[in-house]
Order: sequence, then C-alpha cells, then structure tokens
Amino acid sequence: MNIRLGDPAPDFTAQTTDGPIRFHEWMGDGWAVLFSHPKDFTPVCTTELGEVARLKSEFDRRNVKVIGLSVDPLEDHEAWADDIRETQGYALNFPLIADADRAVSDLYGMIHPNADNTLTVRSVFVIGPDKRVKLMITYPASTGRNFDEILRVIDSLQLTADFSVATPVNWRYGEDVIIVPAVSDEEAKTRFPQGWNTLKPYLRMVRQPRAGR
Ligand code: BEZ
Repeated sequence: MNIRLGDPAPDFTAQTTDGPIRFHEWMGDGWAVLFSHPKDFTPVCTTELGEVARLKSEFDRRNVKVIGLSVDPLEDHEAWADDIRETQGYALNFPLIADADRAVSDLYGMIHPNADNTLTVRSVFVIGPDKRVKLMITYPASTGRNFDEILRVIDSLQLTADFSVATPVNWRYGEDVIIVPAVSDEEAKTRFPQGWNTLKPYLRMVRQPRAGR
C-alpha cells in the first residue's frame, strides 16, 4: 500500500507484547508513533528499542503512544525483550507488534523489495488524533534512528496544528517560529498582539506560542 502524508492511517488488529490490539482503539484520542524494525535479535534494533523505552516519559507528556513492529513471532519478541533490558538498561515499556505474517507491514508499505524482500525497513509513522498520517520517515536497516528528532518533529506538528505558524530549520521547542504566509499582517496583529520581526514580507519571526511547557 502506498501511504502518503495526510492519508488515513490504516486500522488493523495485531498480536503485541502487551496482548492483542485494534490499532485505532488502542490509540484513543491521542497521537501515535508506529515504527518498524527489520528483525528481532539484531543489534541496531536492540539499541533503538532501549532508547525508545528510555524516552517513554517524553512521548507520554506529549500525549503520544509508541508502538514498535518486527516481522517475528511473539515468543521471539519476549525473549528479545530480556536482551534489550540486559544490554540497554531499559525494559520494553510499550507494545511490540508480532507481525510474522507481515499483514501490518504490507498495509503500511514497510517492506521495500529493492532493499530487502522479506524484512521491513526502518519506517516511522507519526499519526495524529484524527488518525491521519502526519509524518513518514524511512531509514535503511544499517542506520539507527534519532528519536530526539522524532520528538522534535512531534513538537512542531502539535504546535503548527494549533497555531498559524511554521517552524524554521533545526527549530527546537521554545525557539522563535514563522508566521505562515497565509496570515496577512492585519490578521497577524490579532493573532500575535505582542508583535513580530519582519525580515522579509514573507519571513516574519514571532515568539513561539505556548512556550512555557
Ligand atoms: C540491525 O538492526 O542491527 C540490523 C538489521 C538488519 C540489517 C542490518 C542491521
């Protein structure tokens, strides 16, 4: 399946390390990150899962649920979880989908035959409360992901969903943002009464709304 930004995130049922789930129901009213791993008992994936477990509270405070996927059976996931705790110092604290029949991988286009015919690539989908896809990133198997970057993008997605702003290059939470071009100066006076800095008519910087988190 060819999923694009803004598309509905396909719903599915799956076995996970936390029991069976129906994806949309599991998400509830919040956000979700669905990310795939090529295979169990692989070194890069082991480090990634430990890192996501370490960052769990950061996802929680953004109202984001995280869920991993690997194309192996539940028994393997459970044995692998012990290795993750032992080597990374963090136990799995989120569900890992056992996608041995590749049903979810196929639904989300996580198998890229030119990279590998059977294993999933490292896909990341961020899904909004409206159950639509807000972000998709694809990494090769040989490159571990940067989950600080995923959190940074979630901060931007959540901010830009609520305010008429966009975030500039390398933006981090609390830094100045850009007033979107669709907002006229007249309208901006109402939306940003504290004022803004016009570098060019199309490039207007303003203090980040809702900065004190
Ligand atoms: C890994 O997770 O370490 C990995 C998986 C597949 C190919 C290469 C590395």
